[in-house]
Amino acid sequence: MVKEEDRKTTTAATTTGSRASSVSLLVCSAVLGIGAGVGLYFWNRTKRNRTPWRRGKGNANKGVMTKTQVDLLEGYEGKCVLTKKQMEGIIEDFLARMEEGLEREEQQLKMLPSFVEKMPCGKEEGEFLAIDLGGTNSRVVRLALKGGQVREMVAHEDPIPKELMVGTTKELFDFIARQVKTFLGKHNTLAQSGQGKGGKIPIGFCFSYPMKQTGLANGEIVNWNKGFDIKDTFGKDLVELLEGSLSEYKIQGKVFAMVNDTVGTLAAHKFIDQDTQLGVILGTGSNAAYIEGKRRITKLQGGETKREEDKMIVNIEWGNFKSSRLPYLEEDREVDERTPNKGKQHFEKMISGMYLGEMVRLACLRASAEGNLFGGSQKDKLQQAWTFPTSLVSRIDGLGPEKLDQVKKELSAALDIPRAEITHGCARFVSRLCQLVGDRSAALAATGVTAIYRYLMQSKQVSPNQRFVVAVDGGLFEHYPRYPERMQQTFISLLGKEQAKRVELVHSPDGSGIGTAVIAAATAR
Ligand code: GLC
Repeated sequence: MVKEEDRKTTTAATTTGSRASSVSLLVCSAVLGIGAGVGLYFWNRTKRNRTPWRRGKGNANKGVMTKTQVDLLEGYEGKCVLTKKQMEGIIEDFLARMEEGLEREEQQLKMLPSFVEKMPCGKEEGEFLAIDLGGTNSRVVRLALKGGQVREMVAHEDPIPKELMVGTTKELFDFIARQVKTFLGKHNTLAQSGQGKGGKIPIGFCFSYPMKQTGLANGEIVNWNKGFDIKDTFGKDLVELLEGSLSEYKIQGKVFAMVNDTVGTLAAHKFIDQDTQLGVILGTGSNAAYIEGKRRITKLQGGETKREEDKMIVNIEWGNFKSSRLPYLEEDREVDERTPNKGKQHFEKMISGMYLGEMVRLACLRASAEGNLFGGSQKDKLQQAWTFPTSLVSRIDGLGPEKLDQVKKELSAALDIPRAEITHGCARFVSRLCQLVGDRSAALAATGVTAIYRYLMQSKQVSPNQRFVVAVDGGLFEHYPRYPERMQQTFISLLGKEQAKRVELVHSPDGSGIGTAVIAAATAR
């Protein structure tokens, strides 16, 4: 039973793509079944052949690529198609960084304790408001949990205005408070439900940035990323900031839990499937959280426990992983240069939706200067940073090398280049480039998942025979063509066919909203 109210579907490939200015959903209990369906859709699609491309004699108009374009592509292919040995090396480094992060503060992998210790069991109940500050949008979700299901869910989403991403903390939190006010004006039943302390609205706050928590409902930001750069947030308690702005707008709310989106995604799926071990976000940014034995988080002050069974969700913040074994391109360095968090989040910048388009743009610019792409003249639009959206990379990759006429159409419209100036050779070059960038992203994400899987098996927290369910959310995973399928290929190559079957990637839609509410419910009970 799905009742919809003013629902706009997103055709953009990632959350960085153009989105409807606001989306309202009213989804009743069956919502949780959707994830597996979407996942299966991707699993069942047939694998596309590798792009055939030919070496031309310098005349791109004949429908073939120039020699320099071919050479450039060979270079990208050499880097972007990862060998098993390379991935094993990356895993080795990843595991070493995980151990360091569990032992000490301020390591490359932050391994942030979430203070979520009561794992969702499916019995959580109640009505909650989830406030979700993501990389591109801010969402308010009202939901009711009952009988192991999401009984009712109403969501409203607004894009975060660009100027607020680099403004002041107060402006950002006031924006959220205004959004909540408008939302409650339309959809409130929570205030009357009398839940929470003193009749206040029970809130779960999903904050998709690294934060250092000292409890479930307090914590400070460690650093901004994904285009945010707000200087005066540091050193302030994020829950106090949110509650402060809400109360200025006369909203009586009590935040029960503040969680990262990966933690929320993991909890949301654990609510319906107890074999869920990992939550992953593949969207504007990328990250993962897993269930860790509390004894192993040795840096956790006051968290000493002798009991083997005591667990806590740890937010890895894998986006900041860096290794000399990563297939780093000159374009990766250039993308990094153009970001406010230069020198940080290397892994994320090679994987996530915010950056793939910029990477393709830079590679095209280089091919234009060195290899006569688009006639060699430096096109105005192509020269402007961040004008090649990842949604376009995704569409071109999805069209494949068989539909080059459509690729030309896409490129012409997006880059303001006359159709006649885009030869078949150009279209073929960009098509293959997009495919390589997509392949590399999925292979790296799957390598990260495999590293965590290995860690959990090595530390005997997961048995090699049990299902290893990975809940994933984010526009890249959801919309980028054959993304789950590409990840699965990497699992097969690293784990072998039989073991790879135990790794189940499941799309967990609205994971952050639902999971935040589930965690708030577990705490409030
Ligand atoms: C960034 C944030 C991380 C978040 C991820 C996905 O990597 O640092 O906290 O989980 O984006 O949204």
